[in-house]
Amino acid sequence: IERTFSIIKPDATKRNLTGAINAVFEEAGLRIVAQKRILMTTAQAQEFYAVHKERPFYGELVEFMTSAPVVVQVLEGENAVAKHREVMGATNPAEAAEGTIRKKFALSVGENSVHGSDSAENAAIEIAQFFAGMEIVG
Ligand code: GTP
Ligand code: MG
Repeated sequence: IERTFSIIKPDATKRNLTGAINAVFEEAGLRIVAQKRILMTTAQAQEFYAVHKERPFYGELVEFMTSAPVVVQVLEGENAVAKHREVMGATNPAEAAEGTIRKKFALSVGENSVHGSDSAENAAIEIAQFFAGMEIVG
């Protein structure tokens, strides 16, 4: 059993899509073992996206992620990292497969409704940034 870190991004929380997105996760066999709605601080967003610091869209990305509430989550299941990325779809909604969250809901490559860890190793780092061990109940 594996865990991954998920964020329902501001474009999605603003459009009241938290439940619709969670339904896709649960349908895919991913269990929500921790979840909270937060307004990310600039410092939190900068740290979270530090790997993208040199990219041209970094400033825009940090601004977007702090512009409205997000829902941070820990999802658990068989191959949770890969399964989660599969149901999210490609980063750019124009390239996302039919039926994926980003195909259905994303507005653009930036405002793309969800985040998912890209490896189990990064998932552990990202989970630790937002959750205390006691907040995760499997
Ligand atoms: P995450 O699950 O959010 O990490 O998405 P990803 O792994 O599919 O994409 P990546 O890690 O390459 O980029 C992280 C995030 O930066 C994306 O989800 C987008 O929100 C944003 N992003 C990526 N490329 C662009 C871009 O060209 N323009 C803008 N504005 N944002 C971008
Ligand atoms: Mg990524």
